[in-house]
Amino acid sequence: MAFTTRIETAIARAISKGQVAPSPGKLASALHYSVSPGGARIRPTILLSVATACGDDAPQVADAAATALELIHCASLVHDDLPCFDDADTRRGKPSVHRAFGEPLAVLSGDSLIIMAFSVLTEAAAIHPERAIKLLQVLAETTGMPNGICAGQGWESEDQVDLSAYHRAKTGALFIAATRMGAISAGQDGALWDELGARIGEAFQVADDLRDALYDEAALGKPTGQDDLHGRPNAVTEFGVQGAIERMKDILSGAISSIPKCPGEAMLAKMVNAQAEVLTPMKWRADQANTIPGE
Ligand code: IPE
Ligand code: IPE
Ligand code: MG
Ligand code: MG
Repeated sequence: MAFTTRIETAIARAISKGQVAPSPGKLASALHYSVSPGGARIRPTILLSVATACGDDAPQVADAAATALELIHCASLVHDDLPCFDDADTRRGKPSVHRAFGEPLAVLSGDSLIIMAFSVLTEAAAIHPERAIKLLQVLAETTGMPNGICAGQGWESEDQVDLSAYHRAKTGALFIAATRMGAISAGQDGALWDELGARIGEAFQVADDLRDALYDEAALGKPTGQDDLHGRPNAVTEFGVQGAIERMKDILSGAISSIPKCPGEAMLAKMVNAQAEVLTPMKWRADQANTIPGE
């Protein structure tokens, strides 16, 4: 089955379990709204790619891990858009959850998605208890304090920001979770896959900085120019557009060299190259095509 089908089916199943009557109707709708239609689903796609490269001998466990990871990511976006954080009116091309349902239901949606993520993994314990416990540990570590996405958001309230700790926690943590959880789902050693996750996460952060600087809200489906507005460090300010793109490509070629020996090594290298294509902004490519050499 294609990764997209596996991911969408497993997420829809988890969400519908959280909507069984007599659940409160508005919160049930807000949960569905928070996860669909999804974004790029990059984290669960990486997770399933690594699981497949490692043999994917327990696909139900890998699907549960992919779902749990994407639910945490979606929860983080719902909370990130709230007025007390980025106060964003749009997300994925539609009104953000608090704009559509109000703040109390947005807070509760994010909370419910986080709990649901861990609950999905406890179900996987019926199939592979040892793998499920490891998956729960990784998800807790990469979500909470001191190194998870909560920590990443927490850095934004500090006067002095440790930039690499901030990026590693805010963005990198869930990419490390993706590669590590993919390997664990297939019964392999998760730690061997940390470097690949960290590098893809770093490249993704640079790509996100590029998108934030190059696009407008209509093109991205969420507010842009946010780094400038909040005075946050950004790879484009630091290296320029060209420099940031080169940096992203360097990081991704390092990612390919870091892929551990496994049956699916070549397939994974292809996946990383495909991500490089996806992450290179179309706008920059179009500008390059219009530039006449020597002018
Ligand atoms: C956005 O992540 C948040 C960041 C960590 C920069 P994505 O760009 O993966 O968001 P979706 O899921 O595709 O909407
Ligand atoms: C969101 O980061 C990351 C998390 C919620 C962990 P940003 O605020 O930089 O991303 P966007 O631009 O809203 O997607
Ligand atoms: Mg934010
Ligand atoms: Mg934001």
